Amino acid sequence: MKIAIIGGTGSEGIGLATRFAYAGDEIVIGSRSAEKAQAAAASILQRLPSTKISGADNESACRGMDIIINTLPYQAQRETLSALRDAIGKGLLVSTVVPVIFNRQGITILPVEEGSAAVQAQKVLPDARVIAAFHTLGAKHLADYEHSMESDVLVAGDRKEDKALVIELAQKIKGIRGIDCGPLSNSKLVENMTVLLLNVNRINKATSSVRIVGI
Ligand SMILES: NC(=O)c1ccc[n+]([C@@H]2O[C@H](COP(=O)([O-])OP(=O)(O)OC[C@H]3O[C@@H](n4cnc5c(N)ncnc54)[C@H](OP(=O)(O)O)[C@@H]3O)[C@@H](O)[C@H]2O)c1
Repeated sequence: MKIAIIGGTGSEGIGLATRFAYAGDEIVIGSRSAEKAQAAAASILQRLPSTKISGADNESACRGMDIIINTLPYQAQRETLSALRDAIGKGLLVSTVVPVIFNRQGITILPVEEGSAAVQAQKVLPDARVIAAFHTLGAKHLADYEHSMESDVLVAGDRKEDKALVIELAQKIKGIRGIDCGPLSNSKLVENMTVLLLNVNRINKATSSVRIVGI
């Protein structure tokens, strides 16, 4: 599969890029700066020299891809996605975005008028097919491509075929099971739960994750 990762130079983008490059997919890391994206790709290539990974500006990265993963910070997504509307077109956009703020009061969810970051992305990109996934996978363990994640990826979206493709993608990561969690509006629950996990992590000085039992 050909996969673009917009805002892909951050730790979550690098982690997902590493895992999917390792699995044999063709990855383009996107950035506001093509040079920064190329440097990020080069750093992964140093660790995994036989993988297909390159870097480009966000707009060029999006064109002609099977899947576009959004790893922008929530605060940057509305403006950035609006500018990428033509490049993304009817593409499949996977939102990993958690509307979260880290401050002295703790780790809290930001209010989103549309209900969730993923629903906001769908409103900004009405032609795109938005699926929400990967929120609960921490960047640190993702970058360690041989580490078995031993958790579930909760996938929310309105099109069954697109969810099936994202579940297939998620399951390329060692130790991951993808679970269909219903319509895109349920992304709000997944985003909220991720903030809960971040609090659990801070309290326990740990990297927690999600496993649904009984299915
Ligand atoms: N970190 C995690 O463990 C984790 C886990 C699950 C989900 N997530 C979600 O994944 C997303 C990325 O997390 P992260 O920690 O990798 O984020 P990050 O490092 O803060 O940002 C990712 C990239 O977004 C771009 N960016 C930053 N500000 C921007 C702006 N104002 N306009 C346009 N682009 C901007 C930057 O790329 P350029 O400077 O190269 O353009 C940056 O490298 C977040 O939405 C987060 O909620 C993160």
